[in-house]
Amino acid sequence: MSITYLSDARSFYLSGGDVSYVLHIAEGGQLLNLYWGKRVPDGAIPAELMGYSYGASFDLPANRLPHELAVRGSGWYGTPAVSVRNAQGNDVVVLEYVSHAVYAGKKPLPGLPATYVESDSEATSLEIELTDPLTKLHVTAVYTIFEETGAITRSLRIANAGAEDLVLNGAMAASVPLYGRDYEIIHLKGAWARERHVVRTPVGQGEYRIFSQRGASGHEANPFLALCAPSATEHSGEVWSMNLVYSGSFLATAYVDNNDNTRLSIGMNPDVFAWKLAPGETFVTPEAVMVYSDAGLNGMSHLYHRLYRTRLVRGSWRDRVRPILINNWEATYFNFNAEKILTIARRAKELGIELFVLDDGWFGKRDIDNCSLGDWVVDRRKLPDGIDGLVRQINGLGLKFGLWFEPEMVSPDSDLYRAHPDWCLHVDGRRRTESRNQLILDLSRTEVQDYIIEAISAVLRSANIEYVKWDMNRNMTEAFSGTQCPERQMETQHRYMLGLYRVMDAIVTAFPNVLFESCSGGGGRFDAGLLYYMPQTWTSDDTDAVERLSIQYGTSFAYPVAAMGAHVSAVPNHQNGRVTPMQMRGDVALAGNFGFELDLSKLSDEDTETARKLVEQVKSLRELTQKGEFTRLLSPFEGQYTAWQFVSESKDEALLCVYRALCKPNTPAICVKMAGLDPNATYADDQGAAFNGAALMFKGMWMRLNGDFSSNIVHLKKI
Ligand code: DGJ
Repeated sequence: MSITYLSDARSFYLSGGDVSYVLHIAEGGQLLNLYWGKRVPDGAIPAELMGYSYGASFDLPANRLPHELAVRGSGWYGTPAVSVRNAQGNDVVVLEYVSHAVYAGKKPLPGLPATYVESDSEATSLEIELTDPLTKLHVTAVYTIFEETGAITRSLRIANAGAEDLVLNGAMAASVPLYGRDYEIIHLKGAWARERHVVRTPVGQGEYRIFSQRGASGHEANPFLALCAPSATEHSGEVWSMNLVYSGSFLATAYVDNNDNTRLSIGMNPDVFAWKLAPGETFVTPEAVMVYSDAGLNGMSHLYHRLYRTRLVRGSWRDRVRPILINNWEATYFNFNAEKILTIARRAKELGIELFVLDDGWFGKRDIDNCSLGDWVVDRRKLPDGIDGLVRQINGLGLKFGLWFEPEMVSPDSDLYRAHPDWCLHVDGRRRTESRNQLILDLSRTEVQDYIIEAISAVLRSANIEYVKWDMNRNMTEAFSGTQCPERQMETQHRYMLGLYRVMDAIVTAFPNVLFESCSGGGGRFDAGLLYYMPQTWTSDDTDAVERLSIQYGTSFAYPVAAMGAHVSAVPNHQNGRVTPMQMRGDVALAGNFGFELDLSKLSDEDTETARKLVEQVKSLRELTQKGEFTRLLSPFEGQYTAWQFVSESKDEALLCVYRALCKPNTPAICVKMAGLDPNATYADDQGAAFNGAALMFKGMWMRLNGDFSSNIVHLKKI
């Protein structure tokens, strides 16, 4: 068992990989956190709180103790882990230890995405139950520690065992006090087409909050927050991080209190969430995945990648290499017909591409983005033989077929909206705010969920559709429901997410061989919640190769490369007008799930030849890029060069990818140090040049990239 309870010390030791997490039950029954860091032996951490409970202070004890579950009302003044208003109208909460249970393996979270085990030996779980003696609020903190990675998951089960209503006004899936304030914060900020850019900044006194209130994890922030030692680099130093397995609004905070201790938290966003707990009712938070590493930021990312690739993503595509696709969006937008599609598909087949994806515009009367969402019926003006007819022709060319949907939306100009105007999120008597001319279906309602499940399933049953792109192109406004009573209206955003997860689960279960890719105006919902249902996500609508270096680099902090859609698009780039060579566009996209998104029939002969070679190269490399260990080497946020690498599990094969956006004259060549190779092995590149593994790591590989927008991909094999 990697969870031990030492009854004399009243302490729990959770240990896995190179990590320990130590909890302690204090005299009054409060649950305290003594330690989260590098692995220590059981019993090594005394319940001494030197940094916290020092003598004279104006502060109350509650503000000076390292609470695992900090609650409001008795002297804690930060964001509480659990915030509850009781029937007396106050929000005083007291949580006292009742009992605990340790068991092998990990239980699923009902209705929510979560990491899992395939055998009970992979992880150990601990449930600690606490209660408020007055209100009979029961909080069960549920932990799992994974044996191999030391990743820890935590969620809270919050139940009303009393006789009167309670209202849950906040719930942090994880909330951990760390001793001291000598940390820097890392998070992934963004906007549409600029998702997940890395921000690193020192913590100061007060609270640093990143959040979404959008009803989606969002482009603006990502439910990921890390603290690291100021000296931590990509390869060394301590990092503590949290990632929420959730796709809706969230709050993540780093709070430095007046005693100079730092609390890292992640969970529900109390600004857009409240949940009525009637007697006997239970609320379960999404799960947070907490990763500690003393091997720097790459060390942290390696742990997330391994866990998410193998124990978050599910289904038949989890371990299969992904097909090379061509998507018609940037090639045609809404302006296509069957002949145009088949012309692109024929060209794609000639280049060795494996899957054709028909994007937005195939249904209803959708010639522009102002109608038809919700009416999932083929537009025979464009596709006279229907989806089925088109699929047969595409399959006849030797390509798989994929289709775009935006199932969560409805256009006011649609038969669905005309039939069910109350099916969207709205507030009676108020304007329904449109975005991209569309409204959001109220997925908190079972009949709406059932409609979507049946409408999408009917199309998937009607033809040999082997891939689905699941898009979502706006954020919530008037995020309330036509069917809930007033005291439950603040539950709508979370009920929507539960409904969405039910819909996704039903569809991916019914079509187990379909490859699903989620999308939200590019990467507006790139999160661990959706990866549980759909193994890959469209990383960004920004397909410019230079911009993609930053986006893919930042995304890799928490998410594996096998989750990132990456396409070669046309130049001048449609998002920023930049012209980059086909080679660089391809070299960036091959560090993701590779595809094209342009009119192949318009390529020059030279670009066609480069594209053909890229397809061949990707086929020979994708096992390595999708399953190998990905390591960041040079940051696009810090210098002219970007570099990253992949190393196979056996260390027999590696791929070094180096990029330079703008060239400067008279600058020295660089020597790129690789990592994770076999130091005693000799590796050869495709031209047969041999390199010693140790030398590649400790000295590096010399590289000079000339000209703007240049790249160099070096494939190494052990000889
Ligand atoms: C937004 C997506 O990110 C694009 O790739 C494309 O599918 C459009 N939506 C279609 O409306």
